[in-house]
Amino acid sequence: MKKVEITTSISVYDSIEELPKDVLSLMQKAIEAKNKAYAPYSKFYVGCALILENGVIVTGNNQENAAYPSGMCAERVAVWNALSNYPNIKILKLAITASSSSQLLKEPVAPCGACRQTLSEYEIKQKSKVEVYFMGEEGKIIKTDSILDLLPIAFDKSFL
Ligand code: THU
Repeated sequence: MKKVEITTSISVYDSIEELPKDVLSLMQKAIEAKNKAYAPYSKFYVGCALILENGVIVTGNNQENAAYPSGMCAERVAVWNALSNYPNIKILKLAITASSSSQLLKEPVAPCGACRQTLSEYEIKQKSKVEVYFMGEEGKIIKTDSILDLLPIAFDKSFL
């Protein structure tokens, strides 16, 4: 038996003002999308905006349902919105933000495991990395250079 250490690296921006200009405007689109989320049950509002290689920005937000598991996360709404309209255009960058009615979210809100898996499918398919930026309602922003930095030892098509 041997132990193997897996490392990942992130970049941390202290505030939204520190972001590169293009990412700042992408994050602003994610905030706008978040403000249109349909989350009457959790009252936890998530927005996602991504920019494609052709310059188009596509957004999504969480959509809840009285039958709880029938709802969907913002990231998957955004990515499926993009991929269903632009099946062969690469995703370059993705921004995520969230707010909650029960607390001020001051820490970056990371995408859930199912969204990481979904995003990894398309990153692998397009053969180029997707930068992921995520934040709460205010405060720090975390950036990863790739979705796979958030999903070590991923399940992918090589196993099928
Ligand atoms: N949610 C997202 O939209 N993205 C995530 O990555 C985590 C959770 C949504 C799902 C649900 O509508 C609400 O946040 C609370 O879990």
